[in-house]
Amino acid sequence: MDAKVVVVGSLNMDLVARATRLPRGGETLAGDSFFTVPGGKGANQAVAVARLGGSVAMIGNVGDDAYGQQLRQALQVEGVDCQAVSVCDGVSSGVALIVVDASSQNAIVIIPGGNGLLSAEAVQRFDALLQAAEIVICQLEVPLETVGWTLARARELGKTVILNPAPASEPLPAQWFAHIDYLTPNESEAEALTGLPVTDQDSARRAAEQLLKLGAGKVIVTLGAQGALFVSANGSQHFPAPHVEPLDTTAAGDTFIGGFAAGLSQGMGEGEAIAFGQRAAALSVTRAGAQPSIPYARELQS
Ligand code: RIB
Repeated sequence: MDAKVVVVGSLNMDLVARATRLPRGGETLAGDSFFTVPGGKGANQAVAVARLGGSVAMIGNVGDDAYGQQLRQALQVEGVDCQAVSVCDGVSSGVALIVVDASSQNAIVIIPGGNGLLSAEAVQRFDALLQAAEIVICQLEVPLETVGWTLARARELGKTVILNPAPASEPLPAQWFAHIDYLTPNESEAEALTGLPVTDQDSARRAAEQLLKLGAGKVIVTLGAQGALFVSANGSQHFPAPHVEPLDTTAAGDTFIGGFAAGLSQGMGEGEAIAFGQRAAALSVTRAGAQPSIPYARELQS
């Protein structure tokens, strides 16, 4: 069966340390625990789509190391089509060094490894997957040239295009906006893309309106515990977040995006898909780690 959702993006092995607080520059801090789990924004989003009822294929790279095998296998057991997850010789797999503090805040350093070698030509080799899909999702943990090519190709094919601009440190290339149906920044990403401070609904609306003016179709600003703000040419709508006690927010955004895409691919309207993604993300923050924290659709039924 052809996958309705294609994710073009990163796979990382997450090396996670928990500590009471994040270390300061130059400081050595004793932590509480350590674990290793599959992550990477692209792979997390693919797993979220699969667990939340969608059919999904991933286009990405791993290195020729043990992490690469584990990352591929983690997707396969969830039913993600991995024919386009390629092994790059002579390079390590992507790795993320993550510290999570007692308030569930995290700090992440990523080493791209194979993700950094995902070229537009490599994506093009799997054009049949893009052609067969309904929804194409990209993030920013693979080369920007590849993201730009994929967005343009997906638009050319008439697909629904979702860009999760993460991680973002600067404005997006101007020519990308016309290719994007849904742009999904969090507060800090919305700020990096627009230069406007984003702390609440009003400031999120101002940033989103600027992104619409640049040409994005619709913008969903995720605001953590403050919910999500959906902004289109027709106005804005706030979606409050379900209240939970957070343990670890890693991959909450990925879970939201995967849930949103899975919802759309199963025929939900935008509002229903946003609320579905939020419920999944809320559950994910009560659990540790990236992929292990992502819920299955059956867990959201009660
Ligand atoms: O969004 C969370 C992800 O960011 C982690 O799994 C880590 O790999 C980094 O890519």
